[in-house]
Amino acid sequence: MALTLKSGFSFDYDNLFGEGKVTEADIDFDALRKAHEAMKVMRETGFIKAHLSKDGNPEKVYFSKLPYITEENGKLNLNSPASIKRLHDFTEKIRNNVDAVVSLGIGGSFLGNKVLFDIFCGEFWNTWTTEQRKGLPKVYFSGQNIDPRRTGDIINHLKAMAANKGGKFKVMLICISKSGGTLDTMSNFMVIYDELKKCEDIEVEVVAVTDPNMEKKTLLKQIAVDNGWECFAVPDGVGGRFTVFCEVGLSTAAVIGMDIEAFLQGAQDMDKACQNDDIWQNPAMLNAALKVAAYKKHGRNIEVLMPYGDYLKSLSEWYIQLLAESLGKQWDKEGNEVCEGRTPLVAVGTTDMHSQTQQHQEGTLDKVVQFVKVAKWANDLTIPNVFPNVKKLADISGVTMGDALEVARQSNADALKSNKRFNACFTLPEVNEYHLGELMYLLAMSVAYEGELLNVDAFNQPGVEAYKRIMGPKLQELKAKG
Ligand code: PA5
Repeated sequence: MALTLKSGFSFDYDNLFGEGKVTEADIDFDALRKAHEAMKVMRETGFIKAHLSKDGNPEKVYFSKLPYITEENGKLNLNSPASIKRLHDFTEKIRNNVDAVVSLGIGGSFLGNKVLFDIFCGEFWNTWTTEQRKGLPKVYFSGQNIDPRRTGDIINHLKAMAANKGGKFKVMLICISKSGGTLDTMSNFMVIYDELKKCEDIEVEVVAVTDPNMEKKTLLKQIAVDNGWECFAVPDGVGGRFTVFCEVGLSTAAVIGMDIEAFLQGAQDMDKACQNDDIWQNPAMLNAALKVAAYKKHGRNIEVLMPYGDYLKSLSEWYIQLLAESLGKQWDKEGNEVCEGRTPLVAVGTTDMHSQTQQHQEGTLDKVVQFVKVAKWANDLTIPNVFPNVKKLADISGVTMGDALEVARQSNADALKSNKRFNACFTLPEVNEYHLGELMYLLAMSVAYEGELLNVDAFNQPGVEAYKRIMGPKLQELKAKG
């Protein structure tokens, strides 16, 4: 059983639905219809019942508008022809001009950007020549921790490259923070900015990505205005974990020369598929209905997102935030204590078949393993017959690595199925911007449905504020002690 879209993207739920698994009787079709209606209203008006901003005010939800590049969306700082053109101009401004970009951010201001970088640049981008990178810069990430060692390493690495260049080494710091004051991001930004400014070989340029509101400026916006730095927008109504489709994610997309339109087109086509009233033809509604039923009726409260392929691991890390922050809620929309939400887990195939799979296969019956498979790998490699006399190795020769990877995944899926272990698979026909846009948007829309099905606000994150309220004064105390 699979839902396959015209693009070839598919959701295979054969090992999740049917006898001994989730059945139609487990699905609350009435709640599902209501959730679907709520999604229609959200698309049209941005309204989501009981959604409040961090300040406790009703707030619109606009992530479903992001795939559409329209003038009207431009008025809300969402994607418009002008904003996309500006991103293209940004790419050309950087090309053959900036040596290295450091993207600073955490949570929603980091995770989606990392997915784009890992998938489209891979591990060795920064070791390539400028020509191989088509004049685009090396890219580093910081701000996603307050780790003195790694931050020190980045600074030393940038300084060493500058010393080797002969002539000015140009570094662009892209500081991303919706609230404009997140300590993890800003402390790294200040440390790196200060160090690089002191270095004679280095020219530093800063770009700020933050709330564009000019009346109530964020700290970052204020500093950007004071210093005349270029700014991109984190629009109102787009929460951190949904920002990969706005200028947060698209700033990295522009830096690495990604096909931004194709990425948004994939998201848009998925959004249209998710408008289908028929659950069996609507990928987000179907995924959400099956996952919630597996959780509520079968106790499968953990979702292991397990893409097969190294560079897809950060997709799983991005999904952790999406699922955890959206659905992990103590209170429902009526204010009842519910302590809701499924718990996400990162895994990557085949790597984690040699670590986690024992638990998936025989451990607590509390998981759905959600695979992500790539149907066709670019530049696939064939395993050669290097040792013809060693039967076990000779037997696998002639097989491509892509096919071997899929056999491994399929074997894992079959083994899990044989032992009452729920699993499902998203298939990307190939790794490109369009199909990644489809998948990331599907997952975002799916948690929006889940929020409605579980009757919790999928768009706030009050729990994240709890430690922040403790941490701020603690840091001040530390400073006062000297
Ligand atoms: O989803 C969220 O809102 C959070 O994870 C934020 O993205 C994260 O805390 C970073 O916040 P900011 O962009 O305001 O620095």
